[in-house]
Amino acid sequence: MIVLDSVDKVFNSGKANQVHAVNNVSLTVADGEFLVIVGSNGSGKSSLLNLVAGSVLPGRGTISINNTDVTRLNDYDRSKWIARVFQNPLSGTAPDLSIIDNFRLAALRTSAKGFSVGVTTAFKNSIREKIATLGMGLENKTGQLMGTLSGGQRQALTLLMSVTDICKVLLLDEPAAALDPRSADIVMKTADNIIRDFKLTSILITHNLKDAYNYGNRIIQMSEGCIIKDIKGENKTQLTQNEIFTWFS
Ligand SMILES: Nc1ncnc2c1ncn2[C@@H]1O[C@H](COP(=O)(O)OP(=O)(O)OP(=O)(O)O)[C@@H](O)[C@H]1O
Ligand SMILES: [Mg+2]
Repeated sequence: MIVLDSVDKVFNSGKANQVHAVNNVSLTVADGEFLVIVGSNGSGKSSLLNLVAGSVLPGRGTISINNTDVTRLNDYDRSKWIARVFQNPLSGTAPDLSIIDNFRLAALRTSAKGFSVGVTTAFKNSIREKIATLGMGLENKTGQLMGTLSGGQRQALTLLMSVTDICKVLLLDEPAAALDPRSADIVMKTADNIIRDFKLTSILITHNLKDAYNYGNRIIQMSEGCIIKDIKGENKTQLTQNEIFTWFS
């Protein structure tokens, strides 16, 4: 569960370019909830996600994840619980390392100190099996350098490697925005499957009307740092694409 209580973030406070990015937001995302955030450019969506991740710290308010107050914890100290995928496929992986080495690095992030990860055949096989579920044919190319893959391939792999067994939260900031329609579809469906399999509490930011309609069991709209719409459960299911479309215009 993610709880934001009266969270506020002002950038460049007291200067001419001051921005009230997140305006006194209170929001509880229940365990296993998949929250979709929509809103125009600059409405505070990424700032809200960054506050949850810890890459931005709030000016006021508190944030807790699974009943632990993380308000003053930096992003590294929260990272074992949080998986993140960004819009840019270049973020989140090491381009000069192979696919399998990237998975090793990701596994090391959560393993105990001194524990050797990823040197066994069992580890390699488990990674190949995971990759095969993408249906992109990458399971036989695990020696290939990450930097030589397409954006869609990288993004799908980033998603797979970022979620570990102890992960509780998945944060997706326009993960499919830079991808062709087929890759975008694979990434979104993979995310949806992972969220169900690992029972993750998830937040997706999107400008894609179809994704906002198809995914998640709750949708909020942000404007000028505030939540101006919040539709859950049955009411989200009953929303039509046309209704969501009117929010975008
Ligand atoms: N690190 C920062 N320093 C200064 N201003 C920032 C910073 N991060 C965000 N802002 C400002 O805060 C406001 C909200 O930005 P944010 O990135 O959260 O918007 P967004 O809803 O994610 O927009 P988009 O749809 O374009 O990604 C914007 O005016 C932005 O310029
Ligand atoms: Mg953004």
